[in-house]
Amino acid sequence: MSLRDRLAAQIAATGPISVAQYMAVCLHDPDFGYYATRPALGEGGDFITAPLISQMFGEMIGVWAASAWELMGRPQALRLVEMGPGDGTLMSDILRTGRHAPGFLEASDVWLVETSEPLRDLQRERLPEDVRWAKSLDEVPGGAPLLLVANELLDCLPARQFVRTPIGWAEQVVGLDAHGALAFGLSPTPAAGLLPDAAPGQVYEQSAAQAALGADLGRRVAADGGAALLIDYGRAEPGFGDTLQALRRHEKVDPLAAPGEADLTVHADFPAVSAAAMAQGAEAAILTQTAFLARMGIGERAEALVRAAPERSARIGRQLTRLIGADEMGELFKVCAIHSPDWTPPAFEETA
Ligand SMILES: C[S@@+](CC[C@H](N)C(=O)[O-])C[C@H]1O[C@@H](n2cnc3c(N)ncnc32)[C@H](O)[C@@H]1O
Repeated sequence: MSLRDRLAAQIAATGPISVAQYMAVCLHDPDFGYYATRPALGEGGDFITAPLISQMFGEMIGVWAASAWELMGRPQALRLVEMGPGDGTLMSDILRTGRHAPGFLEASDVWLVETSEPLRDLQRERLPEDVRWAKSLDEVPGGAPLLLVANELLDCLPARQFVRTPIGWAEQVVGLDAHGALAFGLSPTPAAGLLPDAAPGQVYEQSAAQAALGADLGRRVAADGGAALLIDYGRAEPGFGDTLQALRRHEKVDPLAAPGEADLTVHADFPAVSAAAMAQGAEAAILTQTAFLARMGIGERAEALVRAAPERSARIGRQLTRLIGADEMGELFKVCAIHSPDWTPPAFEETA
């Protein structure tokens, strides 16, 4: 039985499911979920992420982490955590860059929070032996300042979708059409009174999982000190729009066409994540990826790489454009820092 058939049987028996439930099953079902069975990152896979575009991305995060540690007064114990580490490239680049800050690596207790077994195997191949794994942030011990990075994690946390109809809000659900195929439909929602005012046709997305992560991180940095850096495509202001997207071999595909066989995402809701963190006593600030990487020195790093290997100049230029070009990742991707109120992390000084 395929995941599509299993979902169809379940929906026929017990009724439509929310988009959030659909996303959770498609991504994490132990037998059929995309991340549990066939995550394929990189040029030859389903999608590519910034650390895989260029080493410069992870190096800038490494510079950020080491500078943050120095700004915090070089604590002798630090939890250096990556959530959703993919194939391990980002953490590998962070650790290589961190070698340039004496004492930083020695202070760092490195944790990877990962739910996907196949990706854990890839991470194991790429990273040092003393790195530790957890399935959730709760398993990473507290009691020391936290520096946490998550690139393209928020977008794969499940979200519900609501549609404003002419007579009020309804929830978008996944049900069955007359032929038994998976199909979107609308269902009355008790949440209607809690949703913002909007014109008919607008779609409002709400991710309890994204907000819960914001709250967990806010609580953690308010108690232990430190900062979390969440990088993703998403909105910096509250807004509307249907952002559910399925990607397979770099092409957008129908999100209902082949459950579990494509990566399924929604935009990160940075205002909701920030509000949840601030409600726990943390502070939060958002920059575009362009502003963050420029402030961390990516332009200078690109020049140094070109000086060292002039024959790679065109390639490095293309990589830089992909990461910071306004029409590429630069403006769509945001970098959100959630930090304890007693300091401001590198690159975010001007937002304080
Ligand atoms: C889109 S990939 C990004 C990978 C990597 N950060 C990069 O930029 O290349 C999403 C990552 O988050 C992991 N992931 C998904 N849901 C998760 C969750 N609830 N907790 C921890 N990791 C999760 C996936 O297994 C994968 O490693």
